[in-house]
Amino acid sequence: MYLSGETSIFGIIGEPIQHSFSPAMQTVAFQKCNYNAVYLPFAVKKEKLFQVIPALETLNVSGINVTAPYKTAIIPYLTEISEEAKILESVNTIYRKNEAWVGCSTDGAGFIKGLTEIDFLPAGKSIQIIGAGGAAQSIIYNLAKSNAKKIYISNRTHSKVLKTIQKYCTLFPNVEFIGGNCEQNIDLLVNTTSVGSDGSSISAPLESIQKAKVVVDIIYHLESALLKKTKQLEKTTLGGLPMLLYQGALSFEIWTKQEAPIEVMRHCLQQLIAK
Ligand code: ATR
Repeated sequence: MYLSGETSIFGIIGEPIQHSFSPAMQTVAFQKCNYNAVYLPFAVKKEKLFQVIPALETLNVSGINVTAPYKTAIIPYLTEISEEAKILESVNTIYRKNEAWVGCSTDGAGFIKGLTEIDFLPAGKSIQIIGAGGAAQSIIYNLAKSNAKKIYISNRTHSKVLKTIQKYCTLFPNVEFIGGNCEQNIDLLVNTTSVGSDGSSISAPLESIQKAKVVVDIIYHLESALLKKTKQLEKTTLGGLPMLLYQGALSFEIWTKQEAPIEVMRHCLQQLIAK
């Protein structure tokens, strides 16, 4: 489709932004759906963040994604945020609703959708989360919302675990939150930390891996040592690509109100990762 005066503009803000896969993934999605839009990377300096929303307004941009380090910092500039974004203090998708600029987070819902690729449903399950940062928060929130039974949380900085449990145990009284590593067999273990991005470090103790039926690592650019180890134990694994894919697909659906073309988006990510 040719660009025209009617082409809608979308994009992503972050710093750095040059390594983001979103411009390619969203562009192939627009093309596949014949949706007249472009998606651009916007590198934004921290001291200019306050100018972003007025700039989007002025240039008639339709929506943006937000990535590190602005997922929390952008919130004060928005007109409205979803209940989930308020709790997570994190926004990765911004869209227009009449005159308002609305922020929400598709990260955790993207993670849950990704689990369907290994037919994993969180309801009633015991789960170990490694990490308590931003990604962990969105994953824990959505697992609890999906009626997980028990969620163990461990992190290098234990005070963050305590804070996280305090926050979620009142929101989800039917879910049991436990600080530390699992003592019993669990259905799922998730690494949400960057430990393993080097291809050799392992974020989880061997006993936890042995206790888990399924292991997911949200690292997507390579197969982490955690997943390699899990495969040796002949257990089910899932890498980070599905989460990346579905969080983008959900943003696409919010903006276009059309079903995202998952397979072309997946193919695009696979090619970028293989590069
Ligand atoms: P993200 O948004 O990707 O989750 P983040 O909010 O900075 O990023 O969180 C990073 C997570 O990885 C945290 O749980 C962090 O542990 P701390 O809370 O102790 O900082 C974890 N992490 C990062 N580097 C780590 C390392 N070398 N060893 C152990 N945990 C690490």
